Amino acid sequence: MDQDTGALLDQAAGVARAYLRSLPTRHVGAVADGASVADRLRTALPEAGEQPNAVLGRLAESVERGLVASAGPRYFGFVIGGVLPVALAADWLTAGWAQNAAMHALSPAAAAAEQVAGEWMLDLLGLPGSASFGLPTGAGLANAVGLAAARHALLARTGWDVESRGLYGAPEIAVVVGDEAHATLLTALQYLGLGRERVTRVPTDGQGRIRREELHAAVRGLAGRPLLVAAQAGNVNTGAIDPLDAVADVVAGHPNAWMHVDGAFGLWAAAVPHLRPLLEGVERADSWSTDAHKWLNVGYDCGFVAVRDRDAHRAAMAVSAPYLREGMGNRESWEYVLDSSRRARGFALYAVLRSLGRAGVRDLVERCCLHAQRMAKRLSAEPGVAVLNDVVLNQVLVRFGDDDERTRQVIDRVQADGVAWMGGTSWHGVTAMRISVSNWSTTTEDIDQSADAVLRAFRAQRR
Ligand SMILES: Cc1ncc(COP(=O)(O)O)c(C=O)c1O
Repeated sequence: MDQDTGALLDQAAGVARAYLRSLPTRHVGAVADGASVADRLRTALPEAGEQPNAVLGRLAESVERGLVASAGPRYFGFVIGGVLPVALAADWLTAGWAQNAAMHALSPAAAAAEQVAGEWMLDLLGLPGSASFGLPTGAGLANAVGLAAARHALLARTGWDVESRGLYGAPEIAVVVGDEAHATLLTALQYLGLGRERVTRVPTDGQGRIRREELHAAVRGLAGRPLLVAAQAGNVNTGAIDPLDAVADVVAGHPNAWMHVDGAFGLWAAAVPHLRPLLEGVERADSWSTDAHKWLNVGYDCGFVAVRDRDAHRAAMAVSAPYLREGMGNRESWEYVLDSSRRARGFALYAVLRSLGRAGVRDLVERCCLHAQRMAKRLSAEPGVAVLNDVVLNQVLVRFGDDDERTRQVIDRVQADGVAWMGGTSWHGVTAMRISVSNWSTTTEDIDQSADAVLRAFRAQRR
């Protein structure tokens, strides 16, 4: 390594260290918007290159105010994980090693780490050990992979080769999803030519779960068509999990059906024995998607997809003819995802799973759930503040003064205050604050400090 490379890495490590040290105390939201950061970054494209150390310094300085402390302990927006120290360190190694993880031939090391980490994921999540798996960018694309495998299998059973012939003239697949399916599930249908609107949306209950009777009614009369049912483990607002066993029963009663579970974060309930009953029946599905960058805190990006029928998975994704070459030897990572050249996500995933172990993952998930309950308790004790959901996992929906405008104002005030960051959502026709506790470093004190910040905003706004 030349001196410049070493000095640049030291410089980057110094900036990263200072940033990480600031995480517990810095203003959680960004204090500059994208346009003003762009103004600081923009110059005419230099004709002659500039000194790398100066560029790095200027980059760090220019973006600083536009950074969101989403890796910090009091960020509760969307469903966002932080990055465990071992994941961060493994990711630095990943960048340094600069492997292309597409194929075994490009990096036996990356292929091996992905293989072992993937096997551990199946085990931890209670999925069949024989399932195939891949590491896409996130649960969104994991949904696309799972549904592509479904499309292959459902049509292959009718004698239709969708990979070669496309959907022109193919038997029509009936697609059934819950009314609360995540946006990326619908986008996956869009990518696959199944149509985001051409689906039957099954009404959901007060927590966002598919209603069993309505599901039965929706699939009645569909016996003559291939059937794809997508269930959800972890509603993005409430954390609620569809009645998976009941969905599996419906699928089992159909002659040509496939069940997919979008479990971006809810699938992690499998790591905690007393939460596992919420997922009863999950192992009966045909494909599953989840994220390691959310609740497992491996840092961005790392999704996970698993498919019971390995051949269907590979047939839908493999670049060349299905089923074959791999049997001769090595697992080829790119045959299980949509991308080809890719970063080696398996290293950080391996490092996190090994350093936490089964017990560490259980503690992480359980701790976040307890924090969510504490937050809900603290907030709902205040007159005029209502928690709208059953806090079964890590999600809390809160409404202030039973009023959309006041709720929006409280959210704005909390974000501007900077102690914590919570986003807003619309839940069954009303505005709510959405709180997601997904970060490994959040403590009870962080929850109390954040609850205080929310209540302060509510009281100030009430005056
Ligand atoms: C249920 C569900 N599915 C899919 C996704 C998409 O995940 P990603 O953005 O990691 O692709 C999310 C994100 O929050 C989600 O909650």
